[in-house]
Amino acid sequence: MNQSESKLQHQPVLLDKVLEYLDIQDNDVVLDCTLGLGGHASNILKKLGFGGKLIGFDLDNRNMQEARKRLKKYEGKVLYVNDSYDQIEHYLKVLKFGPYNKVLMDLGVSSPHFDVAEYGFSFQKNGPLDMRFNKDNKVNAGLILNKLPEEKLAEIFFNFGEISNAKKLAATIVAKRLDGPFVYTHDFVERIEKECVPFKERNRYLSCVFQALRIAVNDELNVLTKGLKKLYSNLSRNGIIAVISYHSLEDRIVKNFINDLMRPVETSPEKALKSLHAEPKVEMLHKKIIVPSKEESENNPRARSAKLRVFKKL
Ligand SMILES: C[S@@+](CC[C@H](N)C(=O)[O-])C[C@H]1O[C@@H](n2cnc3c(N)ncnc32)[C@H](O)[C@@H]1O
Repeated sequence: MNQSESKLQHQPVLLDKVLEYLDIQDNDVVLDCTLGLGGHASNILKKLGFGGKLIGFDLDNRNMQEARKRLKKYEGKVLYVNDSYDQIEHYLKVLKFGPYNKVLMDLGVSSPHFDVAEYGFSFQKNGPLDMRFNKDNKVNAGLILNKLPEEKLAEIFFNFGEISNAKKLAATIVAKRLDGPFVYTHDFVERIEKECVPFKERNRYLSCVFQALRIAVNDELNVLTKGLKKLYSNLSRNGIIAVISYHSLEDRIVKNFINDLMRPVETSPEKALKSLHAEPKVEMLHKKIIVPSKEESENNPRARSAKLRVFKKL
């Protein structure tokens, strides 16, 4: 099956802006932290010269295998790591690819995660309540719904989905699971629909519920917080990090991380006196947050909520 026949498709988001701001040079060593189907990566690889390298991380081996096929002609220039980007320090030691100077993080899910029913990420498709990027993960959405105590469920829906009736939803889930475990996405939706889902805002509400579950299953916000720190601290000076986020929880973490480095606070008491004058550790490469054009959002609805932030290590 060639690329155009493959049922797995994903349009890279904000591609022109990513390429413009990463400003790829011949000998760059680029980390693509979220390789997906290799859409951004193939365009970066086109720009890399003989001495350049791309290291592609993805937790989801199904996507990584597809990316491998698509990037076959760049063999020798790409290293594939089927693990989480927050494990960067381990792979720096083991794979010895040397210092890196460009990083792309295109967070969250790829189109196949929503399009393939068996992955269990979509309330619109009937599939098992899975939602794992990594099949070795012991936690899946079914386990969370069937086993967690009510308070913990409410926290997940409130913190990761910003759902206003999180407590009621958690109570309904705990009551309904007495009749038997939740196994499939549609069965789960049917069993909470009457009590909890607002008729007029059905899609938005269910998107938030499924987003909350997915974030909890994959521990996404902790991984992002830890990953950003490690990626930044091992980045070469003058190296650049570009992050595309898709919802306010992710974007807040990225924004706060950058702000803290732009206005660092000294930790030693002597230096704290000078903290007002502490040197910034990073520079933002643009004034306004970068979002897709109207045209891109119309052509690719999944790009609609994207926000790109790019910064340089000083
Ligand atoms: C938005 S998609 C990336 C799409 C890619 N830029 C492209 O153009 O094809 C995000 C990818 O990140 C992967 N992913 C999510 N969390 C991850 C993590 N902690 N480490 C590595 N990959 C992760 C997902 O499996 C998914 O394939």
